[in-house]
Amino acid sequence: MKLWLPFAASAGALLAVASFVGAGWDAPPVATEQLGFRGTGMYHHRDVETEAALKAANVAPPAPWEADPSGDKASALYQNVQVLGNLSGDQFNQFMASITEWVAPEAGCNYCHNPDNMASDEIYQKVVARRMIQMTQSINVDWKPHVAETGVTCYTCHRGKGVPAQVWSTTLDPKPAGNMTSNRSGQNVVAVNAGKTSLPQNALSDYLLGDKPIRVHSTTALPTGKNPAGTKETEETWALMVHMSESLGVNCTTCHNTRAFNDWDQSPPQRVTAWHGIKMARHLNVNYMEGLSPVFPANRKGPEGDVLKIGCATCHNGVQKPLYGVSMLKDYIDAVAVKGPSDVPNFSTYIPGKTEVLGGSAATPVTQP
Ligand code: HEC
Ligand code: HEC
Ligand code: HEC
Ligand code: HEC
Repeated sequence: MKLWLPFAASAGALLAVASFVGAGWDAPPVATEQLGFRGTGMYHHRDVETEAALKAANVAPPAPWEADPSGDKASALYQNVQVLGNLSGDQFNQFMASITEWVAPEAGCNYCHNPDNMASDEIYQKVVARRMIQMTQSINVDWKPHVAETGVTCYTCHRGKGVPAQVWSTTLDPKPAGNMTSNRSGQNVVAVNAGKTSLPQNALSDYLLGDKPIRVHSTTALPTGKNPAGTKETEETWALMVHMSESLGVNCTTCHNTRAFNDWDQSPPQRVTAWHGIKMARHLNVNYMEGLSPVFPANRKGPEGDVLKIGCATCHNGVQKPLYGVSMLKDYIDAVAVKGPSDVPNFSTYIPGKTEVLGGSAATPVTQP
């Protein structure tokens, strides 16, 4: 009789017990819901323990007051109002009060303004904020297939902070040693934007800035030599999918029937919304965030010197619909649910600190979706 068998079995049992009762590890209480037909494996599992914290962190703040739309327009009342000129004086003040709460509650108006000259553009944050107003208007008007009537405000991303908590940029950390090790294609390191897996590190640059094809599936049972995607491409798609799932706090089954990841006919409708979301994030990064590069100082850029960019988590912050689908737009219709002038200033000639009126003359058209 093999004597080692009972020993190995009891050692194994002890290890298993230790891993459950040991320090720092406990099984989260998981709630499971069935999303599709029986037998199709369509289940959604959620971690019940994290839910209270998520609920508390995703509450939409109320507007400071209800704005009166009548009276002289901001363009007549002030000197340098280039985007919000159509608001009434009261609407303009209400919006300034709100963006202060949304973006710089501690620093106040002076985060963007020189209090001795409110019309001046000398603080770079004001220049960025004006472009952010245009971006928010574009999201709400041009990207309804994604944001619907719910829309977004600055708060959706900023949550009371100058730099939103969930952003991404290029990362090459840890730096390779050089020579033959210098090109690892972002593989086999911790991919912070892909759920801390070891999937490709910079997948978001390829899909949410570049437009690399995401589809990798073959549509025939046997190889025909026509599908250029291999394991490497598939892993990159997977990295994006993990980013999307983590950002929304959902499982793959929220958007796919996992017996056929490629098949749109078997996919839940959320997948179509997500498809528009990918296009939208790319549009925002290419047309707004990258364009602002010359305006942002070095300490507001990533380790490789590129501007911080928008991913799914920037708005979603861990929940399936940002702020659980509560819309803040009704109090800010004229400010961010319609489009004002969409000219782009020539940021390449931007000189920090200098008072200059941007916009108008050096405008180049924005690429619209
Ligand atoms: C996050 C940046 C930001 C904060 C904070 C902010 N503003 Fe502004 N403010 C702007 C931008 C951008 C404009 C120009 C809007 C445009 O061009 O349509 C502006 C313009 C103004 C103007 C018009 C000045 C002129 O003559 O052209 C006034 C007045 C003003 N803000 C008041 C305030 C007050 C009061 C506060 C604090 C309660 C405040 N702002 C907080 C970004 C900000
Ligand atoms: C879709 C997400 C999103 C929305 C909506 C958004 N922002 Fe931003 N904003 C960003 C990101 C990302 C950055 C960080 C860029 C960086 O630091 O490189 C940023 C940076 C800024 C900054 C610069 C902060 C600093 O100190 O460097 C200001 C000011 C700002 N936003 C104002 C606004 C205002 C005002 C609105 C609403 C009109 C708004 N943003 C809406 C994503 C957003
Ligand atoms: C929020 C919705 C969403 C979630 C969650 C999601 N996906 Fe996707 N997935 C999509 C969309 C949209 C596409 C198609 C993108 C395109 O065609 O441009 C896609 C494409 C794919 C593809 C390529 C299909 C093809 O035709 O080649 C694979 C594989 C895939 N997803 C796997 C996953 C896995 C694995 C997970 C879970 C880790 C996941 N997805 C989670 C929305 C989602
Ligand atoms: C600019 C902010 C913003 C960004 C960035 C963003 N979303 Fe959304 N998303 C929203 C809003 C707002 C809604 C709610 C729309 C509604 O009420 O129907 C939404 C809804 C969705 C839904 C539908 C949820 C449901 O249950 O119907 C999916 C899926 C989704 N987003 C996926 C994504 C993915 C994937 C990305 C990144 C590629 C992304 N989103 C990026 C703002 C954003």
